[in-house]
Amino acid sequence: MSWSGGSNSGIATCAALAVRKLRTVLRRPTLLVTEPCRSLAHLALRLGPRIPTVRRWRDGLLATWHLPNERSWLERKLFDPVFERWISDTYLREPDPDARERLKTSCMGGLSGVAWAEAYDRRPIDRQARDGDVSFDEAVAVFPTLDRLLPAAAADTVVVQVGASSGREIAYFAERFTGLTFLGTDIDDKIAARAARAHPLANLTFATARAHTLLSDIAVPDSTPLIVFAEGSLQYVQPEHLAVAFEKLAKRGNVRIVLAEPAQEGAASPDRLDGSVWRGNFSYTHDYRYYGERAGLKTIEQRMIRLHFDTASPRHRTVSYFYHGLADRDQRGPSQ
Ligand SMILES: C[S@@+](CC[C@H](N)C(=O)[O-])C[C@H]1O[C@@H](n2cnc3c(N)ncnc32)[C@H](O)[C@@H]1O
Repeated sequence: MSWSGGSNSGIATCAALAVRKLRTVLRRPTLLVTEPCRSLAHLALRLGPRIPTVRRWRDGLLATWHLPNERSWLERKLFDPVFERWISDTYLREPDPDARERLKTSCMGGLSGVAWAEAYDRRPIDRQARDGDVSFDEAVAVFPTLDRLLPAAAADTVVVQVGASSGREIAYFAERFTGLTFLGTDIDDKIAARAARAHPLANLTFATARAHTLLSDIAVPDSTPLIVFAEGSLQYVQPEHLAVAFEKLAKRGNVRIVLAEPAQEGAASPDRLDGSVWRGNFSYTHDYRYYGERAGLKTIEQRMIRLHFDTASPRHRTVSYFYHGLADRDQRGPSQ
């Protein structure tokens, strides 16, 4: 009885579903074409990368992450769905941060990174400009903070930018503080070499380094005071690597870190996250104060700067997370 009753109700459910589908199609006949196309596209995105030739084509397409002009007409149409599928099925499922970093570099490094840097260099730094509803100096609080710190810095201080990209920001300070040594860093040789060509200054060099391997990559003696700054770059660091980066800086001591990074307000303010939340397009909202203090940095200043006051603006919940932390020599303790 229960079997035959189940079967009848199953037939009734299928019939009801079929009638509902038919009604939907009669209301929008274009669905007859778009729905099968969508299903086919999903299938192709799922199965395609299992075929070596398709995978090679996909990887080539992903490498145009910041090179849209390198894409054919068809590739322009396909980039977004292919990228989104790769992010959700491959990138975000990768548990090893080093492997995730390599995947990210296949998009962000090389010529894509160079094109990105060139785009930044085409925008000169204008401290009179506004960023959304606030002044440049409010939005990028790294600038007024370095204005204040650099005149008082010891003569042997090395000022390092993490993720310097174009090099325009570190060059801005190197031009003004000729008595100090400046070092811009980024994730690959091509990006660093381009920045060096674009900003030839006697007291400024560029090197390849990542946030979490910074100290070993740049090999500055521990006795040299460091001021490490970042603007819009630490958002791209893997959460696990950010923890390592802060731990290494705190352990070294003799370091100040100053950063301004975009962050997204969600249910919690970014400075209450005690961790990181994915923002999309390789970017995370990181709680920098949390990582800093957990590593042993002393917080000198920290604030969230709202850039867009209009609550209807899609960017209303994007804030600039400013953090200034200090790792004193004494904080390392006698055994470190
Ligand atoms: C938005 S750009 C920075 C632009 C820069 N503020 C300027 O005005 O030219 C972000 C940079 O972060 C770099 N980046 C990404 N991951 C990184 C990592 N793990 N360590 C250091 N830099 C990284 C990227 O290569 C990129 O050049």
